[in-house]
Amino acid sequence: MKHWSASVSAGGDEAARHAALIAAAQCLQVDAAGQRWNVYRPGDLEALWRQMGEADFGPDERIPYWVELWPASLLLAKWLGQQQERIRGMTCLDVGCGLGLSACVAATAGARVVGLDYIEDALHYARANARENRVATAPLWVQMDWRWPGLKSGGFDVVWGADIFYEKRFASPLKQLFKEVLAPNGRIWLAEPERSVSSGAWDQLREAGWEIRLAAREAVPTEGYAVVINIWEAQLTR
Ligand SMILES: C[S@@+](CC[C@H](N)C(=O)[O-])C[C@H]1O[C@@H](n2cnc3c(N)ncnc32)[C@H](O)[C@@H]1O
Repeated sequence: MKHWSASVSAGGDEAARHAALIAAAQCLQVDAAGQRWNVYRPGDLEALWRQMGEADFGPDERIPYWVELWPASLLLAKWLGQQQERIRGMTCLDVGCGLGLSACVAATAGARVVGLDYIEDALHYARANARENRVATAPLWVQMDWRWPGLKSGGFDVVWGADIFYEKRFASPLKQLFKEVLAPNGRIWLAEPERSVSSGAWDQLREAGWEIRLAAREAVPTEGYAVVINIWEAQLTR
C-alpha cells in the first residue's frame, strides 16, 4: 500500500477546480496573526460523518476530524504569528495540517512550510485556503501517513502540530517521526487541549530524551464555551 504522495496537486485546470471547490464550500472566518483568514471546508464534521462508510471504521478508524478548525489550531496560529522572527526562513513541518490554517500563517510569516496530512481531501482544501488567502509562498502539501513517513532525515528546523495526540496509539509513531525529521537543535511545538488520552504521550517523549516545557496556555473561546489549550515546546537532549 502506498502511504504518501510527494505533493497533492489540484491537477488539470487548476483555476476552474479551485473556483468550483470554493463555490460549493462553507467559509469560516478567523482572525489570527494580524489578519482575517477565510478558511473553506466542504461542511462540518457531522455532515461528513453521515457520509462515512463501513470501511472508514474498524481498527484504523478515519473520522474526518480534518474538516474542523480545532481550538488548538487557533492558538497555534496565534503562536506562530508571534514567532515570526524565529520561523522566518526556517524549514518547518505542520503535522496533521487539516484545513491548513497554521501552515498558511507560518508561510505568511516567512517560513518554508510542508503541510502533512493523510487525507487527500483535507489537502485540497488546504491548498485552496492558501490560494484564497493569498499566501505568497504557499506551503507544499504532502499526503502522508505519519506512521510511514518518507521525509528527509533531520530536514526540519521546526515541527508543529495542533490536536494530533487524540488517540493513545498516535504517541509512538509521532515520537518516531519527530526524532527522524527534526534537525539537530530543532524544536517542536505541540498545541493540545488537556485530555487524559494524551497525557501519557508527554511521559513517553520525556523518557525518550525530550525536554518539554509549557510555552503558552490559553482558554480559547469556541461555540459558546472555552477550551484550555497548552502549547508544549520540546527539544531532544540526547
Ligand atoms: C484533530 S485534527 C487537527 C487538524 C488541525 N491540525 C487542527 O487543529 O485544526 C487531526 C488531523 O490529523 C490528521 N491525521 C490523523 N492521523 C494521521 C496519520 N496517521 N497521518 C497523517 N495525518 C493524520 C487528520 O487527518 C486531521 O487532519
